[in-house]
Formats: sequence, C-alpha cells, structure tokens
Amino acid sequence: MQEKKKIWSIYTRLFHIMLITSVVTSYVLIDKENQLTEHVLAGYIVALLISFRIIWGFLGVKCSQHEDLVGKIPLVPRYFMNYFNKDRGSYMGHNPASALYVLLIMTLLIIVTLSGSLFYGIQENAGIFAGLNESYSDWMLLIESIHKISTTVLLVFILSHVTGVVLNLIFNGSDVILGMITGKRRGTDFDVVLTLPQHIFGIVWITSALSLGTYFYYNPDNILTEDKNIEINFRKESYETSSGCGSCHMIYPAYLLPKQSWNEMMDNLENHFGKDASRPKEETQLIREYLMNNAAEHSTKEAAVKILDRLGEKTPTAITETNYWKEKHKNITKEEFEADYGIKSDCRTCHKTIRDGLIQDKNIKFKY
Ligand code: HEC
Ligand code: HEC
Repeated sequence: MQEKKKIWSIYTRLFHIMLITSVVTSYVLIDKENQLTEHVLAGYIVALLISFRIIWGFLGVKCSQHEDLVGKIPLVPRYFMNYFNKDRGSYMGHNPASALYVLLIMTLLIIVTLSGSLFYGIQENAGIFAGLNESYSDWMLLIESIHKISTTVLLVFILSHVTGVVLNLIFNGSDVILGMITGKRRGTDFDVVLTLPQHIFGIVWITSALSLGTYFYYNPDNILTEDKNIEINFRKESYETSSGCGSCHMIYPAYLLPKQSWNEMMDNLENHFGKDASRPKEETQLIREYLMNNAAEHSTKEAAVKILDRLGEKTPTAITETNYWKEKHKNITKEEFEADYGIKSDCRTCHKTIRDGLIQDKNIKFKY
C-alpha cells in the first residue's frame, strides 16, 4: 500500500478543530435569550477563522488552495456514480465531494456570520453594526430569516459532511478522521512543505483566534458586544405618566403596545384591570399624548417590531396578552411566575433594565 504523506499542515488541522469548537459552542447557546452575547462571541471567532482560511486559500499551499477545490467540482458526479466501486479515482487532498462541501460550508459560514452580525446590529442595536437599529428596523425580520435559514442549511450540510466521513470510513476504510488529526493521508506522492511566509501567516491565524477567544472569555462585554441603546428616563420624558401610572405598578415602556391599545386603555381608566386608575382630565390628555407618540408604531426596538408583527386579529390592552409576549414566555408556568417571581405583569423581576425602558437579552435573570 502507498505510503502516507503529510498533506494537512498543523495550521489547517488546528483551524478545523477550532472551527468545530466555535460552531458547536455557538449552536449550543441559541436556546436561551440571555446567552445571546456568548453566542455572538463564538460567531465572531468563526468569522475570524474563516476570514483567515479564505486568505490561506490564496497562499499557494498545496491541497488547501481555492483553485484546487474549485477544480474538483466537475468531478463530483463521477465520484458519486462510482461511489461503491473502486473506480472513484484517487485524489490529492480533498476528494471531489469533500471539496464541494468545503466550498459550500465556507460560503454558508460567511452568510451566517455576516447575517448574524447584521441581525445583532439591527435587532439588538449592538455589536459591530450597532447603530443600524434606527434606520434599518424594517429589515429586522428579513435579516432574522436569512440568519435562521442559512444556519439550518449549514446544520444540514455539517451533518451530511459528518455522515459522509463516517460512510467513507465504513465502506472504504478511508482514514480521513485520523488524517485530520495527524495531517497524513495516502493518495499523494509528496509532503506539503510550507514556506516561511506561510508559516508566519499560519501562526498569526491560530494565535489571533486563540487570543480573541481568551479575551472574550474574560471580557464578554467588550466593544464587539456593546449596545447603543439609550435608557429612557420616564420622569423626564413625561412626568405625568411616571407619577400618574407609576403609583400602582412599574411604568410600562410605551413601545410595548400599539396606539390602539393605549387609546382604549386611556378611554377606560375608571375600569382599569378591576381598579379605578382615572386621573384628572388634563393629566389624562398629556399621558395619552405621550403614550401615542411613543407607541410600538413609532419604535424601532425588537419588542415593538415583533409585538406589531404578531398582533393578529385582536389588539389587547395588556402587554402580557399580546401574542409575542405569550410566545416568549410560554415555557414559564403560572406556578413558576407566582412562586418565584410574583406576578407576571411585574417585568422587573426578570428584566433588570426595564426600569430604564430597555429589554436586553443579556439582562434577563431567570433560572430557566
Ligand atoms: C390604581 C392603580 C393603577 C393605576 C393608577 C394604573 N394602573 Fe395599570 N394596572 C393596574 C393593575 C391592578 C393592573 C393589572 C396587572 C397587575 O396586577 O399589575 C394594571 C395593568 C396595566 C397594564 C398591563 C400589564 C400587563 O400585564 O401587560 C398596563 C399596560 C398598564 N396597567 C398601564 C397603565 C397606565 C398607562 C397607567 C397610567 C395611565 C396605569 N396603568 C395606571 C393598576 C393601576
Ligand atoms: C419570570 C420572569 C419573567 C417575567 C416576570 C417577565 N419575563 Fe419577559 N422574558 C423572560 C425570559 C426567561 C425570556 C427569554 C425567553 C427565551 O429565552 O426565549 C423573556 C423574554 C422577553 C422578551 C423577548 C426578548 C427580547 O429581547 O425582546 C420580551 C420582549 C419580554 N420578555 C418582555 C417582558 C415584559 C414586557 C414583561 C412584563 C409584562 C416580562 N417580559 C415579564 C422572563 C420573564
């Protein structure tokens, strides 16, 4: 049997392991809103690793060149047609199927990380694209779909890539897994030898990803996750709302309900959730104006956009009756609310910054 040759450099192998680790970390964190910062940080590492990999493909390293991968695409049909016999041909580095996978996965990772950063900027007003929230809130739902769909497609590709590797191992006894660890494979007649500049680039690639990871671990709140949301000072913005509505419960940010809800509520203050909340006429008028001017329709905040988007037929007067609110809190039982957090209408127990009018994922305090 042909002797094994070293075709994957140490940098390619470390990159592969680090990419798997950061993609898996990022996936594991998507379930809970208050882990969004960590999810984003893992995503930044993926973006960094991929950017370097793209440059690496132009540096003339044999078996890793983009040219090499692209050149194998026309051979993909033949490769699959002859999958179960020995006629598939022998390939240097990637076989045609894995070359196609690598190209597709790299493209998907670019789409996923770019749409993720944009999504973070537009929806949360945070990260490298912080500041886009105000002008681009109309794009929020579209970018969210792009991020979610591309992530799902990526997951399907990763799973089929892993399945392919396992099948190859079972049916062909191929040693790709071991090869990714040792860097050695059969099928080529040369060792890949790196030049000094290639070594330097490889060292910079790996150390910058490791350093960024270490930095993120100790400083999750950094300029790459900082948000540009401005706190609302209710007392200053509308003294009447703050004093008139804040005497029985917390002050609800006006962007959490549409105009119609506020109007109906202000029309019926005498019978306000079983209480008489009526205020003098002039004050009522000022509060109504404030609420109308700052209602969901006038806000670019995530909650406002999504409450409106999922409103449905009816327009409830309670925030906790909106479809979006119900969807977001469906996993918290009534008992859980009451046992540990008092009433569900007191958002402050779990949303620590809502006093300042902000609902931030990273500031949700809940035991899950
Ligand atoms: C007399 C006391 C009182 C006053 C004054 C009052 N409220 Fe309420 N409000 C209640 C009660 C009671 C509820 C029911 C939920 C609860 O138990 O906190 C409620 C619920 C709400 C809710 C729905 C919360 C949810 O569950 O989604 C909103 C919104 C609201 N009030 C807005 C206002 C506004 C705006 C004002 C000022 C015009 C105001 N309230 C003044 C007693 C009051
Ligand atoms: C018992 C704790 C608790 C209370 C009380 C609570 N929430 Fe939440 N809320 C959560 C949790 C947990 C999540 C995240 C759910 C998830 O991970 O999908 C959440 C998510 C949200 C979201 C979506 C996250 C985002 O960034 O848009 C909004 C909006 C929200 N809550 C608003 C409110 C409002 C308004 C109130 C008060 C009327 C409230 N919540 C009361 C626990 C709570």
